[in-house]
Amino acid sequence: MTPFILVIFGATGDLAQHKLIPALFALFKANHLPKDFYIVGFSRRSLTDEEFHKHFKLQIEDKKWIDFSKHLFYQSGSFEEKVGYESLNKRLLEIDDKMGACISRFFYLATPPEHYDQILDQLVQTKLSVGCGHEKGNWTRLIIEKPFGKDLDTARDLDKKLSDVFKEKQIFRVDHYLGKETVQNMLAFRFANGIFEPVWNKEYIDHVQITFAQDEGVGNRGRFFDGVGILRDIAQNHLMQLLAAVAMEQPKSFTKEDLRDSRAKVIDAIEIAKEESIIRGQYEGYKKEENVKSDSSTETFVAMKMFINTPRFSEVPFYVRAGKKMQKEVVEISVVFIQTCHLLFKEYGCPEIGNVITFRIQPNEGISLRFVAKTPGAKLGLGSVDMKFNYKEGFGTSGLDAYEKILLDIFAGDQTLFNRSDELESSWKFITDILNKWEKNKSNLLTYKQGSLGPSAANDLIEKDGKKWLLI
Ligand code: BG6
Repeated sequence: MTPFILVIFGATGDLAQHKLIPALFALFKANHLPKDFYIVGFSRRSLTDEEFHKHFKLQIEDKKWIDFSKHLFYQSGSFEEKVGYESLNKRLLEIDDKMGACISRFFYLATPPEHYDQILDQLVQTKLSVGCGHEKGNWTRLIIEKPFGKDLDTARDLDKKLSDVFKEKQIFRVDHYLGKETVQNMLAFRFANGIFEPVWNKEYIDHVQITFAQDEGVGNRGRFFDGVGILRDIAQNHLMQLLAAVAMEQPKSFTKEDLRDSRAKVIDAIEIAKEESIIRGQYEGYKKEENVKSDSSTETFVAMKMFINTPRFSEVPFYVRAGKKMQKEVVEISVVFIQTCHLLFKEYGCPEIGNVITFRIQPNEGISLRFVAKTPGAKLGLGSVDMKFNYKEGFGTSGLDAYEKILLDIFAGDQTLFNRSDELESSWKFITDILNKWEKNKSNLLTYKQGSLGPSAANDLIEKDGKKWLLI
């Protein structure tokens, strides 16, 4: 790997603290980073390099951290003022001088989205976006985190702004769920195993359900979350990517454009069932969370019934739900097959649900297949059993963390696991419709108990179709 400079805007924030720096440190320990690399944190606070190192409290115990921190620098600056960027520019040029070459520059926007515009403007004005004297701008990359916009219009504006400054090959739009081993494995599972593909369609699949449950609340991200809500924070991106992995058509190849084409097509084919098929909720006590408005109507839970309008899946319902302060921390996708057991075994007690393939995204990443078996004993009876694959047991490791994977891909210039703007535009279309409806009808925000699985209306949503959430 060639030397690089990674500038992290918002370097003292939550994302850098909990995801980026730990992932970079893990890559360093595993010798995945080049000999020469420079990480420059950029934030408002006035800190020295040493104070910046101490900001990452968790690692200081580790001996390797001392070596790693020699690559960590800090530049204080306000996002809207030129002066900080000019000092940053000077610093980056010094690095180029020291190295005797123009080092690739990666600008990571790890700030709340309201700063994106200012940062992009300043990158242009100070010519940081161009890199060290190379007018083609080939030496800079921009990494940007979701949510990309607040609705369809703002997403388009942001995209326009990005493309005015950078070429598509320079832009990395991060949805870290695409970097999860288990999400990538869903494609391997579907397309590398000949036994599943023939049944992966509406002839055999009864419905699909996706649960994205987090036991934590908004923690210290109240300000960010309250302005966003779970529909934009998780449903518009992570949930749609999980859904795409279940429902996409086989890509022509596993290359960047073919894979992104398949993802974009399936997301474009999503339809929300009906207006009453969207449930939104807020956990009790949310309004008292730090930095949350006391009259907030921001949703911390959403459940939806959707259809995918493709020949493979039309008429198969997809039930998806996501929530904070839920009973447990679990992200799981279950593909429920049409129950056929009664054809022969009606009077022997067929389980209500037959075959189910469950992808466990986290924790304990793995896949299980539920099937019907004869219960032991003299009499013929039937029960459900699970055949399980667990990443750790199967391969002795659960692989790279999602941020480790996406950072490696960024450094290698591989955009396969990053969003293309058309996928985002498609999901923003129906998400914006939902947001507009909510705006008109504020009374449909339900409350739910912390530690539950959301409002009971989310159960009605699936039960009125004669089905059940499998994770209860
Ligand atoms: C982030 C959301 O993108 O994903 C957070 O902003 C959420 O609200 C997080 O908690 C979940 O990611 P993970 O990898 O911890 O499941």
